[in-house]
Amino acid sequence: MAIVGCGNIADRYAERIRTYGACELVGFSDLDPLRARAFAEKFGGRAFEGLEAVLADPSVDLIVNLTIHFAHYEITKRCLLAGKHVHSEKPLAIRYREAKELAELADARGLRLGCAPIMYMGEAQQTAWKILRSGRAGRVRLAYAEINHGRIEEWHPNPEPFYEVGIQWDVGVYPLTLLTTMFGPVRRATAMGRVVHPHRVTKEGRKFTITTPDFVLAMLEFEEGLTARLSANFYVKGGKQGGGVEFTGDEGSVYLGDFQDFGARVEYAPFGKPFEEVSLVRPPFKGTEFARAVDEMTAAMIAGRPQRATGAQAAHVVEILEAMGTSMKDGGPVAVASRFTPPAPMDWAR
Ligand SMILES: NC(=O)c1ccc[n+]([C@@H]2O[C@H](COP(=O)([O-])OP(=O)(O)OC[C@H]3O[C@@H](n4cnc5c(N)ncnc54)[C@H](O)[C@@H]3O)[C@@H](O)[C@H]2O)c1
Repeated sequence: MAIVGCGNIADRYAERIRTYGACELVGFSDLDPLRARAFAEKFGGRAFEGLEAVLADPSVDLIVNLTIHFAHYEITKRCLLAGKHVHSEKPLAIRYREAKELAELADARGLRLGCAPIMYMGEAQQTAWKILRSGRAGRVRLAYAEINHGRIEEWHPNPEPFYEVGIQWDVGVYPLTLLTTMFGPVRRATAMGRVVHPHRVTKEGRKFTITTPDFVLAMLEFEEGLTARLSANFYVKGGKQGGGVEFTGDEGSVYLGDFQDFGARVEYAPFGKPFEEVSLVRPPFKGTEFARAVDEMTAAMIAGRPQRATGAQAAHVVEILEAMGTSMKDGGPVAVASRFTPPAPMDWAR
């Protein structure tokens, strides 16, 4: 496999992929050849002279697309057209029609297409899901998902694209993917958004102004009956609400302390009673293993079974994001038409 897009997140992928037995990291490519070279020096493998060189290399079966949001569609499409399997960082594309086209293209060509986020593959997330499936909480009717993502410019050298695409596209996708994994497709989305902190400054002192809402609030109606509230912002960091997801059913509540930390605290409370911590199904990875889906996809390819992270689910999430955008603009609920088959729980958490 090869990595295209050698930026901030690529290190985390390359480090882990090196430890997976089933795939070899052949090389790296980036718009900036110096970045590709730096990665090849650090992790081994080739520095490709651009995407065409990666596509022409017969030893590359799978491409991990870690470019910025706006480039995902074009890069993934070129890879699929060249007969390569793809795992993309999120979102799959920034328009639903493009995301759908990619999912259909992969299917038509018999290629694998997976997409982040894959935080539902984490130990804490799988533990919370196992409790929900066990029925201890009864019929789950309400979920609250909070993302207080702080201010990207405090740590990222290139924060503008994240603000340009908007909070729901950058991090709203995390709880949306988690919730659609557990509860299946959404049928309607209603959302509101506002810019709460327009004037920002990068670490180097470059001033920039944002116009896309950095605070978004959405109500999501799932086909199977769940109603979820999603609130996300690029302003509060951590805070009392943190990045937790709380599910409430007729018999009790399940609390997942963080949407992306694989070792997050998981708690259960019988209805109206205090929460108590629950042990995770197995010792967790420390933090977030972004590349876990690459390992999962290669295992699925070897076993000849479907991989868990699919283009169809990622395209559905993009349709929800687009519906939220339409609702923010026009008001009222917006229907979401696409459907997908949710992934199975991890084997170790069944
Ligand atoms: N940084 C994080 O913590 C983080 C976490 C999770 C997911 N992600 C996702 O990963 C993706 C990349 O984020 P990042 O933080 O690494 O961004 P980044 O800006 O640090 O890196 C992106 C890299 O892609 C390269 N690139 C852009 N367009 C390209 C093109 N057309 N062809 C080849 N290379 C191209 C850039 O030169 C850059 O090196 C985003 O979709 C983001 O949402 C990032």
